Amino acid sequence: MPHNGFLSSLKLSFLGLAFSCLTSAATDPRLQVALTLQNPVNGVSTTPSGRTFVVFARVEGSTGPQVAEYTNNTFVPYPDAEWNSYTPGSDPTTHLVRTNGQRIGPDGSPGFGQPVILPNGPKFVQVNLTTNAVQRAWNLGNVTLADSLIHDIRFNPAANFAYITDAGVPAIIVMDLMTGEARRVLEGEPSTKGAPFPISGEGHLLHSAATGAWQYIYADQHEVSPDAKYYYFQPCNGGMSRIETQYLNEAFHNSSLASVLEQFVEPFALTPSTGGTAIDADGNIYNSDTDRLAIIKIALNGTWSTFVQDDRLLWVDAMWIDDQKRLWMPAA
Ligand SMILES: *[C@@H]1O[C@H](CO)[C@@H](O)[C@H](O)[C@H]1NC(C)=O
Ligand SMILES: *[C@@H]1O[C@H](CO)[C@@H](O)[C@H](O)[C@H]1NC(C)=O
Ligand SMILES: *[C@@H]1O[C@H](CO)[C@@H](O)[C@H](O)[C@H]1NC(C)=O
Ligand SMILES: *[C@@H]1O[C@H](CO)[C@@H](O)[C@H](O)[C@H]1NC(C)=O
Ligand SMILES: *[C@@H]1O[C@H](CO)[C@@H](O)[C@H](O)[C@H]1NC(C)=O
Repeated sequence: MPHNGFLSSLKLSFLGLAFSCLTSAATDPRLQVALTLQNPVNGVSTTPSGRTFVVFARVEGSTGPQVAEYTNNTFVPYPDAEWNSYTPGSDPTTHLVRTNGQRIGPDGSPGFGQPVILPNGPKFVQVNLTTNAVQRAWNLGNVTLADSLIHDIRFNPAANFAYITDAGVPAIIVMDLMTGEARRVLEGEPSTKGAPFPISGEGHLLHSAATGAWQYIYADQHEVSPDAKYYYFQPCNGGMSRIETQYLNEAFHNSSLASVLEQFVEPFALTPSTGGTAIDADGNIYNSDTDRLAIIKIALNGTWSTFVQDDRLLWVDAMWIDDQKRLWMPAA
């Protein structure tokens, strides 16, 4: 992943968080720069009252907070400095180790997920936005494998389930939020693993900076439809599938259904390599296109069109739609 980043914003219905070396080749006037950052962010969320939260990407050598609130023109570690102070040897149950996702949940609380240290490192943490204190942490140790990359979380509030993607060992994790019990489903299936191609960006296939091997990132972006009927998901190299949430939820309790769950998955849209998605109140999905520096809009019938294309939309990661119908795009 590239190393420097920043945050822009796109009005009309967009905002973006952008990148530092801007050129003016192809720019869209609807897009506005909201924030320019010294470090890449791979997620953003906002509250109706105007609070803005970001998650700073953890790339080699990066320091500082992982989750922060942008307030008074500065980034304040969130929920506090202590949670953001992890160093090897700290208690992984009470620190953010390597945060990979952050969002405002259906009950108004952002959750963060991360992998690495078993059994107590992988977890997601609920922070109460009124008290700004950690309210609950759900442990993911039992459903995290050594090579897992716990990636992103979405909620199905009516069913009280959370769905979590594992981009390292391809699978979807279904968690009962009440009990905290979780189960891996669709592990290693075509829908979570994707085509045998590495991810692609700016027109070329990517290698891992650490090992030089082709870079694969499996089940990653996902969304729940506004009526909670469908769960949409895709590996990072593209190809979006969907499954009715009723099957995901039932598979949580029924292991024979869980073993044949791929049969209930439908191909939905032939999406390109992607950094992140968002879904609007009508159920349209916005999906970044890391090759074309664009955002595509996927209609309810799975057909897609280019929504905005702009050279500043470099590696747009987890997007956010606020209550003023603006799309926030962290250009990571
Ligand atoms: C932001 O600045 C205002 C005015 O100086 C101050 O009252 C407020 O406490 C600050 N907020 C934070 C979160 O520091
Ligand atoms: C957050 O904290 C406030 C104040 O204690 C409380 O009223 C509210 O119910 C909490 N929110 C959730 C989602 O638990
Ligand atoms: C793993 O699951 C078992 C059985 O549900 C539970 O007792 C245990 O607390 C879990 N461990 C972790 C680390 O979540
Ligand atoms: C579990 O799922 C299987 C396969 O779909 C189905 O045949 C069976 O009736 C289900 N069991 C229960 C208790 O619903
Ligand atoms: C799919 O939906 C889009 C947007 O509503 C519409 O323009 C298009 O005609 C539809 N395509 C098909 C094949 O139904």
